Amino acid sequence: MLFFKKKIKHIDTGDIDPSRVPQHVGIIMDGNGRWAKRRGMPRSVGHKAGVDTLERIADYCNAVGVKALTVYAFSTENWKRSAEEVGALMNLFYHYLTIIEEKFRNRNIKLRFSGDTAAFSDKLQKAIDHAVEVTSSGDGMILNVAMNYGGRDEIVRAARSAADAVSRGEITLEGIDEEYFGKLLYTANLPEVDLIIRPSGEQRLSNFLLWQAAYAEFWYSDICWPDFSEQDMKQAIIDYQNRSRRFGA
Ligand code: FPP
Repeated sequence: MLFFKKKIKHIDTGDIDPSRVPQHVGIIMDGNGRWAKRRGMPRSVGHKAGVDTLERIADYCNAVGVKALTVYAFSTENWKRSAEEVGALMNLFYHYLTIIEEKFRNRNIKLRFSGDTAAFSDKLQKAIDHAVEVTSSGDGMILNVAMNYGGRDEIVRAARSAADAVSRGEITLEGIDEEYFGKLLYTANLPEVDLIIRPSGEQRLSNFLLWQAAYAEFWYSDICWPDFSEQDMKQAIIDYQNRSRRFGA
């Protein structure tokens, strides 16, 4: 008789206070290109390595009790990259999303997407819908993938929706407040963003979660995304827990 020992991955939560875990974390997955270049490899290899990091960090966040993780996978400005790199990224998204059922079988993570996905090819849009459907029963963390996402674009779209609702008489101008407006954003019904992480040494928001970042804490690191480890994620959460958040008070 054969016995198969299930490999149980040890998640080191270290000194994380379980009662003060950031509810919603945003990550700008930066530095894939530089990581690859330093190794004499094409940028697309860096993006592939970035997907592996995303899996590890999503598992870690889910295990420590993060409720939502929004990752910046493709911005509204990323179309300006070379056709070769945009093509490689589209292929990577497509291939990963078509094997999502297998990839997420033992994960209780639920996928969601933010951004103007209508701009993608029909087959990629179908793969996105499929990924949302096959992970919909997940009762763990929501992994919100920002694709063809721009914070300004998101706000303009929400403003248009609000104006439309006013012109239809569905709401009065005075009825539009922060709560109403927030529900018109891609992140509707997700917890407030508590922590935004940007690896690779850059210290800017780059049009990521502009509205949602209002009271978020920022955490920067020089490490390129493919090298970002669970230990780094743990450090970011511990640093977050040591900050004094006053929300303007
Ligand atoms: C930024 O690094 C990274 C991107 C524009 C792409 C990020 C995408 C992934 C990690 C893939 C995610 C895949 C799925 C299926 C969700 P950069 O290229 O700007 O790096 P650089 O600043 O070193 O040039």
